[in-house]
Amino acid sequence: MSLDQEKQIAAKEAVKYIKSGMTVGLGTGSTAAHMVNELGKLVLNGLKIVGVPSSETTKKLATEKGIPLITLENASSIDVYIDGADEFDSYMQLIKGGGGALLREKILTYNSDLVIIIADSQKEVKRLGDFKLPVETIPFATQKIEKLLNKMGLQPKLRIKDGKNFITDEGNFILDLNIADITNIPALESNLKQIPGIVETGLFLDMADIIIVGKGETAITIK
Ligand code: 5RP
Repeated sequence: MSLDQEKQIAAKEAVKYIKSGMTVGLGTGSTAAHMVNELGKLVLNGLKIVGVPSSETTKKLATEKGIPLITLENASSIDVYIDGADEFDSYMQLIKGGGGALLREKILTYNSDLVIIIADSQKEVKRLGDFKLPVETIPFATQKIEKLLNKMGLQPKLRIKDGKNFITDEGNFILDLNIADITNIPALESNLKQIPGIVETGLFLDMADIIIVGKGETAITIK
């Protein structure tokens, strides 16, 4: 089984939680794209849902797949949010934001009744931090934040795409941080959030209700 097949297996399992009448938050990334594809097939077969996309990329894909969409402000509630992750540990803590959509993803996660994370087996880690932690920063403040985070030993790297600064859907930059040596992750989250100009971090702590992992040919559900 390839990792991509594991992502698809997890996505297929996750959409079993979706019933007609639900408002569904749609994550971003290659695993979430499998979920959008699966939901699209169900919608074609009569499932009545509305989706709230977490990025412009997902909005485009969901539209192509025929999933009716609404904005967060028009959603009175979100029943289920399904998204991928870059890392998860045995306490169901996550790093997200590899695709740069962490801000809208965290807003949707926070505003959803049930949060389902889908992943291939390589995303499971003993402790968070092999993956560089993305933080979203206001362009005006980014250079100052970079200097400060350097002093804190977090080795920030400004994310570049196609030779230019990566720009998020909210018009911000991303700094990717090395948190491999950090032992107190909740303290790091709270310290980062206190720095003016850091809009959000990719640490999703105590936010996932269910993690579905594709492992070989099976989907394993962790609650
Ligand atoms: C995007 C994300 C993604 O969920 C995360 O990067 C995982 O991506 P993929 O499913 O492609 O491995 O947080 O901001």
